[in-house]
Amino acid sequence: MNSLTTHDLRPAQAPNRLLDSLPGTDPELAARLQRRLALVEERLLECTRGDSTGPAATATSHLIGAGGKRLRPLLALLGAEFGDPEAGGVVDAAVITELVHVASLHHDDVMDSAPTRHGVPSVNARWGNTMAVLTGDLLLARIAKLAAGLGQGAVQLYADTAGRLVRGQLRELSSPPGPEGQPEHHFSVIADKSGSLISASVRLGALQAGAPTEVEQALGVFGEHLGSAFQISDDLLDITSERTESGKQPGTDLAMGVPTLPVILALTDTDPGGAELRDLLEHADLSEEPARTRALALLRTSPALDRTRAVLATHIHRAHAALTPLPPLPARHTLTTLTTALLGRTS
Ligand code: FPP
Ligand code: MG
Repeated sequence: MNSLTTHDLRPAQAPNRLLDSLPGTDPELAARLQRRLALVEERLLECTRGDSTGPAATATSHLIGAGGKRLRPLLALLGAEFGDPEAGGVVDAAVITELVHVASLHHDDVMDSAPTRHGVPSVNARWGNTMAVLTGDLLLARIAKLAAGLGQGAVQLYADTAGRLVRGQLRELSSPPGPEGQPEHHFSVIADKSGSLISASVRLGALQAGAPTEVEQALGVFGEHLGSAFQISDDLLDITSERTESGKQPGTDLAMGVPTLPVILALTDTDPGGAELRDLLEHADLSEEPARTRALALLRTSPALDRTRAVLATHIHRAHAALTPLPPLPARHTLTTLTTALLGRTS
């Protein structure tokens, strides 16, 4: 086993690049968020190593060390801006959101037999499935402990979110009632798999900072739409990009038979012009060339792509609308630009 741990790849104090990339963020807010994100980073390493030693400690902290955008902690800290951002427990709230994400990736990568995550070997690829599942479970235990330290509201939110994540995964394994039921089935899967944790992240920050209940609820609605938009933009990138920002080759989901929204919408299309594409999607082995390249080319010019963009735009519009009644703080502006940036990466 390589003695160099992946922590060496991520300097704890490096500025968060996602935050840096957002135009027009108030400089005072940006400085506060970067300072708080550095604390989150330190605490993440502390919590993932915990009292483990040897391979268990290395495997549990592997993905945290490998990087990631830290979208969820950033959202938690932005949510906290609607109360007292320096309140006790806000940093731990942000830490919890990333740990839930990482724990779910330990398990998801086992389910998908994924060889890599965040550009490094996945936990399952490096230490095996048993270790990946158990270290994911260890993270869940540590999250429960952290949440208990924050109070009943945090525990409740964590329990509800973990339940929705698992139900989303389970529903993804089940078949929808028929082809016409597929889009609705997919929307409910992505709401639970992606919307739930994004929404809980921004809410948990607001809750710990003592923001008013109606503000926390509006942020929750915002997060649900942002999370679904995020998943749909990933679905789009699988078709449209040369290479996605996570390093995935275009057509990876297609090759693995992952039901993304453009594919689902192409299958519900009845236009004769889409017959060749439907035939490929239904009958061809898309893990093989040239079928995959042909399917990708047809998808790129199909009406399903525009319909997918329209669904994405609706979520982005609803996310923005949820922010409108909130106090016009610099954090509201940053949440708005973060959401708009999603549209930019798929156009
Ligand atoms: C990535 O999906 C996975 C998720 C968004 C959620 C995974 C949830 C579970 C495995 C349930 C268990 C939850 C906990 C809290 C332990 P993807 O495979 O579509 O995306 P990818 O391409 O990034 O792998
Ligand atoms: Mg996966």
